Amino acid sequence: MSTIAAANLRVDGDRLWETIMETAEIGGTPKGGICRLTLTDLDRQVRHWFADACVAAGCTVTVDEVGNMFARRPGKDPSLPPIAMGSHLDTQPTGGKYDGVIGVLAGLEVLRTLNDSGYETNAPLEVVNWTNEEGSRFAPAMLASGVFAGVFPPSYAYERTDRDGKNFLDELERIGFRGEKKAGDHKFGAFFELHIEQGPILEAEQKTIGIVTGVQGMRWYEVTVTGTDSHAGSTPMRLRRDALLGASRMVEAVHRIGWAHAPDAVATVGLIESRPNSRNVIPGEVFFTIDMRHPDDAVLARMEEDLDRALPEIAAALQLDHKVERVWDSPAVKFDAACIDAVRQAAAAENAPAREIVSGAGHDAAYIARVAPTSMIFVPCEKGLSHNELEKAEPEHVIAGANVLLRAVLQMDAQHARE
Ligand code: GLV
Ligand code: MN
Ligand code: MN
Repeated sequence: MSTIAAANLRVDGDRLWETIMETAEIGGTPKGGICRLTLTDLDRQVRHWFADACVAAGCTVTVDEVGNMFARRPGKDPSLPPIAMGSHLDTQPTGGKYDGVIGVLAGLEVLRTLNDSGYETNAPLEVVNWTNEEGSRFAPAMLASGVFAGVFPPSYAYERTDRDGKNFLDELERIGFRGEKKAGDHKFGAFFELHIEQGPILEAEQKTIGIVTGVQGMRWYEVTVTGTDSHAGSTPMRLRRDALLGASRMVEAVHRIGWAHAPDAVATVGLIESRPNSRNVIPGEVFFTIDMRHPDDAVLARMEEDLDRALPEIAAALQLDHKVERVWDSPAVKFDAACIDAVRQAAAAENAPAREIVSGAGHDAAYIARVAPTSMIFVPCEKGLSHNELEKAEPEHVIAGANVLLRAVLQMDAQHARE
């Protein structure tokens, strides 16, 4: 098929939107979001939906040893590495309908569009559903794309446990998605991930497309503060070792570190467990998590130094013990110039208002960038709200993003065939 025909191809926007709404029912919440934690029964259900849809679109579906799913549409030259698209179908406990999902389903829509027009690419194409992008159930985030990229061995993923003590491998096997394929056994010619921005910039500037040039650095920590469980009525204030009081001051310190490195830094305590969590017992142990991010790894390192100073001071003042463990360090990422350029050109060809942007959120693309030329396409979401059931994206923006994805993939395919 000629280049002119490629330039005229457009995704079927109605079909894409219907597909997004159909899968949103799997784990759909009353508030209009999705709760579809990784490796749960609902994750199994959406995975089967995805596999069936891909087989119906003429693809071969394979699964690797950490549950990553690859739907392949053949190209004219099987010796070329596939050009891949994808994201994740797992969600936060109070996730929206778009985070991750649109990147997978837009990939599927690209394949369906090519099928409709009988368009044959040179390289095979693949749509990928990465396991456990969110990191909400099993820390860290981007776990299985990390295994694919060689950042973690499979055994590291297998040993992760959730807060109920269930482990990744058992849950992966339980839902029937421990595949035969070795993770990372095949290379990609390129990887593109379409995603909502999850921040306010595109909307504020009335841009439809974010040309994503990289992802900021992030570090996760787990903190346990230990005091003494004791009676709330009979223990005088001066004799208390209140772990929750210590943790509260630490939460405040984390927040201050975020402000101290503003405007680009962010620092969050998102999960906290107080034990024994009884109203008339002074809490003897508190567990909490810290998420700190900055586009510059050097600043992120300084934020960690601030943390290393602040927490011991707080603990000492209250006679508490504490333990801090850095459980994840994902350095800042710069995407591939040719892939960024393919997105820029695709947005221009779509006449879509666009700007360059660095991602504040983590994405599988950040790890895939280590093993393949990679970039991302952002579309706006209302008020930048995400990791929230009310997350909202306009159909016209998501459809424009899918068309940019289609064009970027076809451009990369033409380029690879020429090389
Ligand atoms: C992944 O969703 C992240 O935490 O950015
Ligand atoms: Mn996501
Ligand atoms: Mn997310």
